[in-house]
Amino acid sequence: MLDYQAILETIHQNISKIDNRGIVASYIPELAHVNKNTFGIHLRTLDGKTFGAGDFQKHFSIQSISKVLALSKAMELVGEDIWKRVDVEPSGNPFNYLSLIEVEKGIPRNPLINSGALVIADILVSNLKNPKEDFLNYVRTLADDKSINYNNNVALSEKKTGFKNYATANLLKSFNNLTNPVDVVLDFYFHQCALEMTCSQLSKAFYLFANKGCCLQNKLHITNQQVKRINAIMLTCGFYDEAGEFAFEVGLPGKSGVGGGIVALLPKEFVITVWSPGLNNKGNSKLGMLALEQFTTKTKLSIF
Ligand code: DON
Repeated sequence: MLDYQAILETIHQNISKIDNRGIVASYIPELAHVNKNTFGIHLRTLDGKTFGAGDFQKHFSIQSISKVLALSKAMELVGEDIWKRVDVEPSGNPFNYLSLIEVEKGIPRNPLINSGALVIADILVSNLKNPKEDFLNYVRTLADDKSINYNNNVALSEKKTGFKNYATANLLKSFNNLTNPVDVVLDFYFHQCALEMTCSQLSKAFYLFANKGCCLQNKLHITNQQVKRINAIMLTCGFYDEAGEFAFEVGLPGKSGVGGGIVALLPKEFVITVWSPGLNNKGNSKLGMLALEQFTTKTKLSIF
């Protein structure tokens, strides 16, 4: 039997000895205030056990991690029609790269880069009655926690400075791959990214991807096949131009955000969430990746 609590505590200790913690994202000004020395790690097994070390109960901005939750809601709502508007290939480029949209005539490479996530946001805006409220309720249901909320200051901060996302949305619109007004889609997307959660809440919210589409409240949201697809997209596209490195080092499907969070999972076994706000030069949590590499090495648990 693996002693998960002891393993997480050892990883926490190892990480606290490291001085070079990466750089906190500042292109969204509101994110720049976060303390670089925070670190949390949390594990939820499918048989209902939970383990945590460090700041696993502190809230942080989940940012791009939300793209997976938005994708699952969009798949639940419109099914296979999504793939007419967005592809499923790794981009090998930064998450906010513009040129590919032009070359590929408005069809984003995958739903986890910003352009693809904006198409998914457009689908949610079209198919939800009260998009921001309904999406928030979806996440609350998945995590079985009504206290989860958007941080409006973070959403507003990105609204004021998200020029590249405005460019991306306008480019998609020029190729007729956004049906709603650019401002409406961006307002939804900035809020979606501004969801604040703790490591333990994220481990709960991602439970359905390890549990055949069934959330913690035992409600079935997506099919087995859809879970397979979402996990495959996380593995190949969840870390942008570092997806290969994450598969190589960690060996689990997962998703990062510029708030410094990473969620990863082993189907039918566990969900693990880590948070360390300092990023590497690809925009992924520097020590978060290291912590997960240590976890799968110590436990010998990965998909490979
Ligand atoms: O659109 C953006 O740039 C941010 N709201 C999200 C980017 C992000 O988290 C990329 N992740 N590593």
